[in-house]
Amino acid sequence: MRDNVILTGFMGTGKTSLGKMLATRLGRPFVDIDRKIEDETQMSIPKIFEQYGEAHFRDLERAAVKELSTRRGLVIATGGGTIKDEENLRLLKSSGVMICLTTAPEEIFSRTARRGERPVLDGGGSERLETIKRLLAERKQFYDRADYQIDTTDWSPIQIIDSICRYLRQFRS
Ligand code: S3P
Repeated sequence: MRDNVILTGFMGTGKTSLGKMLATRLGRPFVDIDRKIEDETQMSIPKIFEQYGEAHFRDLERAAVKELSTRRGLVIATGGGTIKDEENLRLLKSSGVMICLTTAPEEIFSRTARRGERPVLDGGGSERLETIKRLLAERKQFYDRADYQIDTTDWSPIQIIDSICRYLRQFRS
């Protein structure tokens, strides 16, 4: 049964804030995979990357996906890189309807400008926009496998939530 609603997409596309709003609208619990990992390890994501490396973070992410995909009735926000793992993508898609939020690279650049929060983007210095464009191109093949894509660049949160709810209506019996 595909009963969860999964919000995915690149960093800075609004998965967490829109996920909370969507969960409130649908009257469902909200789970953010990054927050779940932080709560369970009692460490921030940047600290996990710094102390144990990205591979360890991806292990924690896979474990969280495995657990969440057995649950039902949730709104789940993934991290930006969660679905570049084929097994994560398969498990999440089989547990629910997957919505991918997209945003123009320049807008992602400004939304993610604060350093120290996104270790995947922090290495690059002035090439940060190029890093965003490269990662978007690499990940497109995964994001494109979501059930529905919605561009958040110019829309208000209410418009985006309305559009997602309209799309989800077809799954209600
Ligand atoms: C990552 C995105 C982050 C977080 C981690 C890695 C990525 O989540 O999971 O820093 O590889 O794109 P957000 O998309 O919520 O920032």
